[in-house]
Amino acid sequence: MRIVLKIGGSLVFPDKIDVELVKNVSKQIVSLSSNHEFLVVVGGGTIAREYIRALKDIGKDDTFLDFVGMEVAKLNASLFMGALGKKAPVEVSNDFKHALSTLYLGKIPVLGGTHPGHTTDAVSSMLAEFVGADLFLRFTNVDGVYDKDPRKFSDAKKLGKISHETLLEIVEGTKAEAGVNAVIDPLAAKILKRSKIKTIVCGKEELKNIKAIIEGKHKGTEIF
Ligand SMILES: Nc1ncnc2c1ncn2[C@@H]1O[C@H](COP(=O)(O)OP(=O)(O)OP(=O)(O)O)[C@@H](O)[C@H]1O
Ligand SMILES: [Mg+2]
Repeated sequence: MRIVLKIGGSLVFPDKIDVELVKNVSKQIVSLSSNHEFLVVVGGGTIAREYIRALKDIGKDDTFLDFVGMEVAKLNASLFMGALGKKAPVEVSNDFKHALSTLYLGKIPVLGGTHPGHTTDAVSSMLAEFVGADLFLRFTNVDGVYDKDPRKFSDAKKLGKISHETLLEIVEGTKAEAGVNAVIDPLAAKILKRSKIKTIVCGKEELKNIKAIIEGKHKGTEIF
C-alpha cells in the first residue's frame, strides 16, 4: 500500500521534542517499508504556535505567519529525516513532485509546510491525492474524530466510522488560519472527499503499532 502518514506537531512537539516517539515511529516505518510505501508529513506543534502568536502580536500578516509556521513544521519533519537511517531522504521535500521523486529513489519523503494558506493537514491530503495514496493515516492528540471538539464539549461523542461527507460537515466551521486546532481542517476534508481517499484518524497510543492500523485493527475513526 502507498500510505501518507501525517503526524501532528501536537505529538512531536507538545512542549518539548518527543524523541522516543520520533525514534519509535521511524523504526516502524522503516521496517514496514519492505511491504509498503510511506510519505511522512509533520505538523508545527506548540513551537509553531508560539512563533505565530509572537509574530501576530508584532503585527505581521497571515501569509508571513504561514511562512514561519511552514519552516517550523519542516524543522519537525527533519527529526524524522534524522531518524530514518538508510531510508532517509537528503532533504525535507518542499513540494509534492520532489516528494514523489524521493519515493522513486527508494527513500521515505518527509514534508512540513509547502505553501502559505495551507495547513499541514491540507498539505498531507493534497500529497495523498497527488501520489494516489491508498491510505491517509492521521495521528493527533485526540483518539479520533468526535461529533464536536472534545476539548471544548464534555458530551462530545467519538465516531467509529463516518463518510467523507460527515467529516466535512463536522469540520466545516473550523477557521482556516495559522495555528488553528483542528482534527482535520476543512480544505483537507474537501480534498480527501473529492479523491475518495480512505482515511484513519488515531491518537498517540496507536502510533505504537502502525502495522495493526494498516491491517484494520484500531480504535480511531475511519473515514470512507
Ligand atoms: N470534531 C473534533 N474531533 C476531534 N478533535 C477536534 C474536533 N474539533 C476540534 N478538535 C481539536 O483538534 C485538536 C487536534 O488538532 P491540533 O491542530 O491541535 O493538533 P495536530 O493537528 O495533531 O497538531 P499540529 O496542528 O501542531 O500539527 C484536538 O486537540 C481537538 O481539541
Ligand atoms: Mg493541526
